[in-house]
Amino acid sequence: MVKAGILGATGYTARELIHILLRHKHTEIVALTTRQVGNVHVSEVHPQFVGRLDLALENLEADEIIARCDCVFSCLPHAASAARVKPLVDAGLRVVDLSADYRLQEVETYTHWYQVEHPDPGRVGTVAYGLPELFFDEIADSQLVANPGCNPTAPILALAPLLRAGCVQPVDIIVDAKCGVSGAGRTPKLVTHFPECNENVVAYNVGHHRHTPEFNQVLGKVSGASVEVLFIPHLVPMDRGILTTTYATACGPVSQEQVLAVLRDYYRDRPFVRVVDDLPTTKQTLASNYCDLTARVIADRVVLIGSIDNLWKGASAAAVQNYNVMCGFDETTGLGD
Ligand SMILES: NC(=O)c1ccc[n+]([C@@H]2O[C@H](COP(=O)([O-])OP(=O)(O)OC[C@H]3O[C@@H](n4cnc5c(N)ncnc54)[C@H](OP(=O)(O)O)[C@@H]3O)[C@@H](O)[C@H]2O)c1
Repeated sequence: MVKAGILGATGYTARELIHILLRHKHTEIVALTTRQVGNVHVSEVHPQFVGRLDLALENLEADEIIARCDCVFSCLPHAASAARVKPLVDAGLRVVDLSADYRLQEVETYTHWYQVEHPDPGRVGTVAYGLPELFFDEIADSQLVANPGCNPTAPILALAPLLRAGCVQPVDIIVDAKCGVSGAGRTPKLVTHFPECNENVVAYNVGHHRHTPEFNQVLGKVSGASVEVLFIPHLVPMDRGILTTTYATACGPVSQEQVLAVLRDYYRDRPFVRVVDDLPTTKQTLASNYCDLTARVIADRVVLIGSIDNLWKGASAAAVQNYNVMCGFDETTGLGD
C-alpha cells in the first residue's frame, strides 16, 4: 500500500482526491494538511466523509509528512505549493502538484505571469507535464509531476493530434471556455459570491489569463511549431465543468470525417478521451475522468468542442491518473465508473 498525503486538504480539489483515493486499492490516505483549522476531523470540513475516513486535518511540518508518506498530492495555491513540495521531493517522496508551479519551462515566464518569485527555481523546466495521453513515458519516469491546468486540458488534447498531423495551423487559434464556479476554489471571493455569479455570465482575465503560456508551451512542444493561442474564459453559473470551443484554421481542404478520424486514431487506446459524434455537454463528463471531444469543419475553420469536469479530469482525477502512471499501476485504477 502506498501511504499518501494531501496538502491543502480543506479545498475542493483535495475533497475530490479523498473521494477518489478512498476507492483506490493500492493507496491509504495517512495525512491531510491545513494551515488554519488544526486537528479537526476530516468529516467536520468535508461532511461527505462521515464514517468513511477516520483522520484529522493537521498543520504538519515537512519532516512529519516525510516520516508518514510515500507520496503527496499538493492542492495548494501556486507559490505556496512549490515552497511546501520542495523538501518533500528532496527527501525522495513522489509528488503530484496540482498548482501551476512546475508547469512552465522557464522561471522568467513563471515570474512574468504569476508575479511572484519561484520558491524552487532549480526544478523549473525539469518536471513532466501531467497529460499521460501525450507524455506517458516522461510521467512514468518522474518523481514529481506538474498536473495540467483545468482550462488547457481539453483544448490541448483536441489540438495536439491535429497539429501533429498538419491538419490545422499553429497560429490564429482561439479558445473560448465556459467554466464552472468551483474552478476558482473554495476560498471565498467576491466574484464567486452567490449573488454575483448566480444567473450571470462574465468573461474574465481577457487577454491575460495565466493559462495562456501553458497552452503555447505544451502545444509548441507536441507540434514542434511556434503556437499562439488567444484564450478567453467565461465564468458560468454552474458548480463544476468546463466546455471549451476551440477555433483553428485548416491547413488545406479537410472534412469533418477526416478530422474526427485523426482524433479517433490518436486516442484509440486511451481510456479517458472519448471522441464523440454529438456535441458534448458538461453533464456527460461530470464526476468522471473523461474528456469528451468532437469536431466540426465550417469553411476553412476546424471547430473543436471539449468537455471535462474541472475538478476531475481538470484536477484531482487527472492527478490520480498521473500517480498511477508514476507508480506503475494500471492507469485507470480508482477512476472507473
Ligand atoms: N478548482 C479547480 O477546478 C482546479 C483545477 C485545476 C487546478 N487547480 C489548482 O489546484 C490547487 C487547489 O485548488 P482548489 O480549487 O482546491 O483550491 P481551494 O479550494 O481554494 O483550496 C486550497 C487550499 O490550500 C490552502 N491554502 C490556501 N492558501 C494557502 C497558502 N498561502 N499556504 C498554504 N496553504 C494555503 C487552503 O487550506 P487552509 O486554509 O486550510 O490551509 C485551501 O483550502 C490550486 O493551485 C489551483 O490552481 C484547481
